[in-house]
Amino acid sequence: MIKRFQAWLKQRETNHKPLHVSKDNVPEHVAIIMDGNGRWAKRRGLPRVAGHHTGMKAVKNVTIAANELGIKVLTMYAFSTENWKRPKDEVEFLMKLPQEFLAIELDELIKENVQVQMMGHREQLPEHTRKPLEEAIERTKHNTGLILNFALNYGGQRELVEGVREIAADVLAGRVQVEQIDEKMISANLLTNHLPNPDLLIRTSGEMRLSNFMLWQLAYSEFWFTDVLWPDFTGEHLKEAVAEYQSRHRRYGGLQ
Ligand code: IPE
Ligand code: IPE
Ligand code: MG
Repeated sequence: MIKRFQAWLKQRETNHKPLHVSKDNVPEHVAIIMDGNGRWAKRRGLPRVAGHHTGMKAVKNVTIAANELGIKVLTMYAFSTENWKRPKDEVEFLMKLPQEFLAIELDELIKENVQVQMMGHREQLPEHTRKPLEEAIERTKHNTGLILNFALNYGGQRELVEGVREIAADVLAGRVQVEQIDEKMISANLLTNHLPNPDLLIRTSGEMRLSNFMLWQLAYSEFWFTDVLWPDFTGEHLKEAVAEYQSRHRRYGGLQ
């Protein structure tokens, strides 16, 4: 009986242990697959778009928390090149969110010295989606705090296809020799050529797949999955992920 009580106490302690995030070894780049908005809404008997709207609100808080932790780049997967397959109404709703998000949150993000960036295939985005983002990018380009990088109409395979095409064009034009093509050159021809690779990848909602996200850049990232649905995700969950990241040993194929 006493043993069981002791075990229970111990369990209770570990559950309530304050999260310890060290100032050293903070991941420089965290990438998040923000998943589970639809299920969040369904569980409440709400339309899927209500989940997207609440999910949008989670973005600011997580961004502020990431900035406070000292993370330098936060890449948020907001819309994939495959998400166009969804019903037209849902896609239209999603395409309106950046404008709404920025109207509500941009001033505070600027106060926090956040720099907004975007990666994805812009030309396919409607003007009311692209323009507010481009304005936010312009307005924040000199900010020196966290880079909030929205992956919007982003697909890892499409990104690689386009990078390969650029290199092939350089070869055809005689600017590059085939033997010169290496990992560095491929990285330089991706949308992330100015960013470090993600150290930590987070996916919410219990799904354990990449869904075409940063296929090249995640080669040696640490993965952290949670059942929490994106609209419920907070800075505390981010801290939990970072604390676990700090307990991992990255080996890059070598020995410790
Ligand atoms: C993630 O939530 C947001 C986008 C993909 C745009 P989902 O809409 O995929 O939510 P689930 O997976 O259906 O719950
Ligand atoms: C990945 O989620 C894309 C985003 C979170 C933006 P999905 O919900 O589209 O992925 P699948 O279809 O479940 O793989
Ligand atoms: Mg999903």
